[in-house]
Amino acid sequence: MKNLNEKKILLIICGGIAAYKSLEVIRLLKKNGADVKTILTNNAKNFVTPLSVTSLSQDKVYIDLFNSDNESEMDHISLSRWSDLILIAPATANTISKISFGLSDDLASTVIFASDKKVFIAPAMNVRMWEHQSNKDNLKKLVDFGYEIIGPETGEMACGEYGMGKMSEPNTIINHINNYFKKLENSKKFKALVTAGPTHEYIDPVRFISNKSSGKQGYEIARSLFENGFQTTLISGPTNLNPIKGVNLVKVKSADEMLEATLNNLPTDVAVFSAAVADFKVKNQKNEKIKKKNFSELSLEKNTDILGHISNHNSLRPKLVVGFAAETNSLKNNSLKKLSEKNCDWIIANDVSKKDIGFESDFNKVSIFYKNNSEENLPKMRKSNLANEIVNRIISQLN
Ligand code: CTP
Repeated sequence: MKNLNEKKILLIICGGIAAYKSLEVIRLLKKNGADVKTILTNNAKNFVTPLSVTSLSQDKVYIDLFNSDNESEMDHISLSRWSDLILIAPATANTISKISFGLSDDLASTVIFASDKKVFIAPAMNVRMWEHQSNKDNLKKLVDFGYEIIGPETGEMACGEYGMGKMSEPNTIINHINNYFKKLENSKKFKALVTAGPTHEYIDPVRFISNKSSGKQGYEIARSLFENGFQTTLISGPTNLNPIKGVNLVKVKSADEMLEATLNNLPTDVAVFSAAVADFKVKNQKNEKIKKKNFSELSLEKNTDILGHISNHNSLRPKLVVGFAAETNSLKNNSLKKLSEKNCDWIIANDVSKKDIGFESDFNKVSIFYKNNSEENLPKMRKSNLANEIVNRIISQLN
């Protein structure tokens, strides 16, 4: 499949022994349907010839900054404007250093300096250079600029040493680029909402009813949705978890607040209800601390079922509604009941009686029950991996 059809990639090849791999990068980019223009730094010419590069890219190779041919055809500004993405592969320690300081003394560094495009960097250098503090500082700056670093990998180097610094394989580089464009597509297309964590149902200002939910699974799902390009809102009950950069976090305490926040953040394409919402709230919640001598018995009333309310909503129901079922027994029967009673599309069921896969664990083991009567039993895995599995299924379903 041509995943990069009509994508314009500007490949900058720096002078290092890994430059020979950039020929394979060009071949794969072209095979995937991309338009490729290339820049060779002066040192790169010692490792690959302009003729081999131009033969593979089927386009002109750009080398000098001030060349009357270049300038009349395409100057450094037009080159960066032309591209959808700039890839530096291999990126030497020297080029990394130059762009981190904003130096622009050749065509490659000037194009990057003049660019507002996504930049991917595939470093290649000796292990000592890779580990040098100045290289680490430079790369940190580039990450802060929003550039993405691919690799490097550990292995035997051309100089005979062993360690980190080998340029990533061309296939790995192409996968990163494919994923980037896939995410970009999703972000133009899809919005997601996730509920997570417990709720606190206050009795008085200092006492509440709650449960053991940590919120970890919901946070991981929100993270994975965001990383896959969804515009993601996370409605979270009280947890100890850190906000996720890029995810719109709405903090709530009670089930009523969670319902209101959910309604305010719909419609979306998908909603995942992973919160362990307290089923009951306290009638006549007190504004002052209740003295124990006045404490007799609690009177409770049912909270609105947020999942049920949304999945039966005429105008706000997302295309895909995913519920969770926390069960200690009869997992399948109880989950199928929830699937139909709550009118959702999938129920992700987990057995919360087991400590190693329960509320507070980093691991989970779930079964997914689908509306079309099929089911999947997934093996025990990290909650972060399970989140990716769930999000992959969401993407397939929405596409
Ligand atoms: N849920 C919700 N609002 C509630 C209660 C539950 O949105 N007031 C959602 C949960 O986020 C989850 C699903 O409903 O996606 C099932 O929650 P669970 O606690 O397993 O079931 P309950 O509906 O609370 O039923 P029971 O406690 O009887 O098992």
